[in-house]
Amino acid sequence: MVIAMHRRRFLQYSTVAIAAPALVGRALAQTGASATLPIPPLMDVGEDAGNLLEAVTGRHRFAENFEAETLGWSRDHLGPTLRMRRGRTARLTARNRLDSPITAHWHGLHVPGWQDGGPQSLIAPGQELEQRLDIDQPAGTFWYHSHPHGRTGYQVYRGLAGMLLIEDDDKASNNLPLNYGVDDIPLIIQDKSFSSRGTLEYDDDGMAAMQGFRGDRIAVNGALAPKARVPQGLVRFRLLNASNSRVYALRFNDNRSFHQIGSDAGLLPAPVERRKLQLAPAERAEIVVDFSEGAAARLVSEDVPLEMMGGMMGGGMMSGMMGGSSGPATREGVFRVLDIEVDRSRTGAITALPQELLGAHLPTFDEPVRRRRFQLNMMMGMGMMRGIFGGRPKLGINGKTYDMDRIDQQVRLGETEVWQITADMMSHPFHVHGTSFQVLSQNGRPVEFGEIGMKDVVWVENSAEILVRFDKPAIADAPFMYHCHILEHEDSGMMGQFTVG
Ligand code: C2O
Ligand code: CU
Ligand code: CU
Repeated sequence: MVIAMHRRRFLQYSTVAIAAPALVGRALAQTGASATLPIPPLMDVGEDAGNLLEAVTGRHRFAENFEAETLGWSRDHLGPTLRMRRGRTARLTARNRLDSPITAHWHGLHVPGWQDGGPQSLIAPGQELEQRLDIDQPAGTFWYHSHPHGRTGYQVYRGLAGMLLIEDDDKASNNLPLNYGVDDIPLIIQDKSFSSRGTLEYDDDGMAAMQGFRGDRIAVNGALAPKARVPQGLVRFRLLNASNSRVYALRFNDNRSFHQIGSDAGLLPAPVERRKLQLAPAERAEIVVDFSEGAAARLVSEDVPLEMMGGMMGGGMMSGMMGGSSGPATREGVFRVLDIEVDRSRTGAITALPQELLGAHLPTFDEPVRRRRFQLNMMMGMGMMRGIFGGRPKLGINGKTYDMDRIDQQVRLGETEVWQITADMMSHPFHVHGTSFQVLSQNGRPVEFGEIGMKDVVWVENSAEILVRFDKPAIADAPFMYHCHILEHEDSGMMGQFTVG
């Protein structure tokens, strides 16, 4: 009897376009007049005391008539852009002024586990935590965000995230645009949904957790579809996909080409010409766009479906169950991310791109001594059923859902390994703490290093292999994490932890 009933509901979900929460897969809405692109203030973090990041609640205006209660680091929404220098110590304090626990995780930084800000390093309400981070890696674009288990999606969506730049003094002469906010522009891309009551809507139960939460409006640095003014010349954009689950396929509306110069963990060996760029959650890309002709441009995106073709249950059925994971893309086609206007009264400082990039993050691996396998599981028996029936699903890796008290892997300091990651049913952006890695293959096809560079997130459509080494220790009390960076998957247990010793 019970089984028959469940089966009926199950079939219903597989044929009806959308499951319970109306938010899942909702079509993207366009916002009216564009605001000016806000630029998060720059905070140079050196060895001196007094660099403070305070998690606070705020009320933030995303656009006219779009105000909502938000979270931020020392601001209403999002946080300052932290700038750190290689070879120096960055000293800063994270303080929690909220009424629930937070952490301060430095996504992509090579620091020991006890400084990494993972789910074990909770900062209770009213408490603070000082860190002295020894910055010991190539220049690049990173970020920081709160990471408490089960609440990461909620807190990042509300705004507990910010950009983090590492600069490398010796290599500063690359002749790349480097004037923050002028020709070197941070773009933190997130999707949001607004209720009529002036709050941000969020859901991490049921199908929203299964598919990953998606908002129906695109915010850049906390403004809906804003407009940037740039000098006439070469302009660098540092793109960060800080969305909970949305994957972007970015391009310009006039289909102009641009150059990618950096990815997650630093500069590429040489600029790569592109017309389109895919960015999964937590991935970064640095691009340089030529505005010397003075023509305006619009950065647009299409959605990339999360669904794996030929998944275990067959594409059609999964698509029905997941509310059509190709979602907004098929209904809306292309959506606006950022308008760019050229200020012809200002000439850009940089007129030509270098052929090669000094200070690129190059791999330095030895022969791998070990292979580890990670299967990202949507299929956890009744765990997934809970999701389909509207509860918090139980997802996992290698058949186990995340457990704070269990160490899943033990890695040896300084040993090179191959990690093989496979996905069931859906694609996932897989992230590893404490290091950067080289992607060897995706879906069985070899990946050219120069095309994607050093990474800390890899897009796993069906499968991927990475070459990885850990040079920073992590103990059982403060291990490193590996997880899917679809935050609802992570919060539902698609995460594991490991020591390095
Ligand atoms: Cu962006 Cu576990 O982190
Ligand atoms: Cu991370
Ligand atoms: Cu996932």
